[in-house]
Amino acid sequence: MFGLHRARRTAAALAATAAAAATALFAAPGAVAAPQPIVGGTTTTTTTYPYMMQITDAYQNQFCGGTLVSPTKVVTAAHCMVGETTGSVRVVGGRTYLNGTNGTVSRVSRIWVNPGYTDATNGDDVAVLTLSTSMPYTTAKYVSSSDTAVYAAGTTARIVGWGTTSENGGSSNQLRTATVPVVSDSSCRSSYGSDFVASDMVCAGYTSGGVDTCQGDSGGPLLIGGVLAGITSWGEGCAWAGYPGVYTRLTTFSSLVTAQVNS
Ligand code: ARG
Repeated sequence: MFGLHRARRTAAALAATAAAAATALFAAPGAVAAPQPIVGGTTTTTTTYPYMMQITDAYQNQFCGGTLVSPTKVVTAAHCMVGETTGSVRVVGGRTYLNGTNGTVSRVSRIWVNPGYTDATNGDDVAVLTLSTSMPYTTAKYVSSSDTAVYAAGTTARIVGWGTTSENGGSSNQLRTATVPVVSDSSCRSSYGSDFVASDMVCAGYTSGGVDTCQGDSGGPLLIGGVLAGITSWGEGCAWAGYPGVYTRLTTFSSLVTAQVNS
């Protein structure tokens, strides 16, 4: 399952930006950073990030991240739910290590995928899962629709996940985290052209690359001031210079999420 997801996401990201990447490579080959190891972060725990959930298959193999926003509601990426059903997914809380057996495992009783989500564009990339079992962990606050100031360029954001520590590498057994600056919409548009939709997406990363989310981090949080402000969505490769990570701009979808959290 994980392989399938990863392949599809990588293919979509590459197809979307192949032309731009080729241009960048020809224009300035020396400017393309070698992919680093969450690339470039440090290890952490679910004690530090208690709302950090593993989204797994029925065998508890993690393939995405999610954020606990109420005891029975988890915010993740819509693209993580492509091909999934309530029976095929589990949510695991309180488990720092992928190979752990501790924490709380819940089945999913409902999957809400933003109706605006389309595989082709990765726009509107948000989903809310309803858990069958309550999670006994601290929940995360998430932005309200009026909090758009959180995305001011240069603001420090935090990324968290078990994703690969290099572009084509393996997942991290231990949860990892890193900080990355929010990138202005105009700069992100320069990187990604019309694939970047500013109303739905926000970018974060260093101009020189080196620190980023990567495959398997999708669905996990972009935290700004400790508040959930974005969802790991897509990017060109991982940690490339000039190609920041792209996150769901949660302020746009905050009311939709609240409707799900309260339903
Ligand atoms: N789509 C990836 C996933 O499903 C996340 C990619 C994030 N990429 C990036 N360069 N920030 O796990």
